[in-house]
Amino acid sequence: MAAHVTTHQHFYKRNVMKNLQSEIQKLQETLNHQLATVKSAKELEDVRLAFLGKKGSITALLSEVKNLSLEEKKEFGPKLQQLRQEAEARIEATREGLIAQHAQAALQHLHNFDVTAYKPGVQHGHLHPYTLAIQEIHDIFTSMGYEIWDGPEFETDFNNFGALNIPQDHPARDMYDTFWTDKPGHLLRTHTSTIQIRFMQNQKPPLAGIAPGRTYRHEAVDASHDFMFMQCEGLLVDKNVTVGHLFATAQEFLKTLFKKKSLDIRIRPGFFPFVEPGFEIDMRCVFCKTGCSVCKRSTWIEVFPGGMVHPNVLRACNIDPTQYSGFAFGFGLTRLVMLRYGIDDIRLFHSGKLKFLEQF
Ligand code: DAH
Repeated sequence: MAAHVTTHQHFYKRNVMKNLQSEIQKLQETLNHQLATVKSAKELEDVRLAFLGKKGSITALLSEVKNLSLEEKKEFGPKLQQLRQEAEARIEATREGLIAQHAQAALQHLHNFDVTAYKPGVQHGHLHPYTLAIQEIHDIFTSMGYEIWDGPEFETDFNNFGALNIPQDHPARDMYDTFWTDKPGHLLRTHTSTIQIRFMQNQKPPLAGIAPGRTYRHEAVDASHDFMFMQCEGLLVDKNVTVGHLFATAQEFLKTLFKKKSLDIRIRPGFFPFVEPGFEIDMRCVFCKTGCSVCKRSTWIEVFPGGMVHPNVLRACNIDPTQYSGFAFGFGLTRLVMLRYGIDDIRLFHSGKLKFLEQF
């Protein structure tokens, strides 16, 4: 009986040892095989986890040591430790190899880069001059604390005329060749001044904002007229606002837009029903010193109409004119962009001509 047990144990022991030995070898081989095909750090990490991670196959084998007899432990303990250390070392070496490979590839890429190479068929997009100008205008006014406002192009008679102190039958309506629509009392806005009404009605002073946008007038189209063009409205309402604030704002804006260290402005009276007093603000011609075709030989360019918001307009928006005052302006954005970039035909803006757009 005793002999039988011994024989059985002996057989069992030999078997375990043989199995462990071949298991170790198998693991080494598969690891080597897998490391040879690894291409990225991510793949390498997957291999590491498969062998040495918590659930990895080498880790699993190591956890079997505790089930072995003393004798087996003596023999396989060190072998298994060695298996783990070698695996770690090989993985590390593969990692370094990968890093070196990448560095080499990057170097080669730099080396192959030919600055003189001709690359056919590459077309770059260009921002429309309107977009460029509006971005610049946004920057200038937001740096002065203004908000950017927006509103609809389809408007009511009240927002476009009535609230702006231009009641029905007022002769000033003749200045605006209006596109009326099928919906009674509704039109395509003839100016961006509608936005000052919308914001004064919905917000309490102090208020400061600009609103660039499209405007429509029933005009015959030629090089300097279009039925659709852009304006930019501006409004500031607070206590104790004066014309001085308006002039300084106009000067600062024009100076920055035309990139001049200093720029003279000139002020003339102008009539707009929604301001009192109203002004035409001119700037010194930015193209000449003694007179040219742009300034019609006068050295002054008319660019910036504005004035102090009329008390009737404040009242139409429920703002008390005895408490608050404000200034408004509404320059022709299209005209300013034409001046800024030397564009001589308004029709180019919507021509879709690449030759035109590619210049910006
Ligand atoms: N809305 C005017 C126009 O289209 C321009 C304008 C002039 C706007 C004076 C203003 C202003 O706010 O104060 O002709």
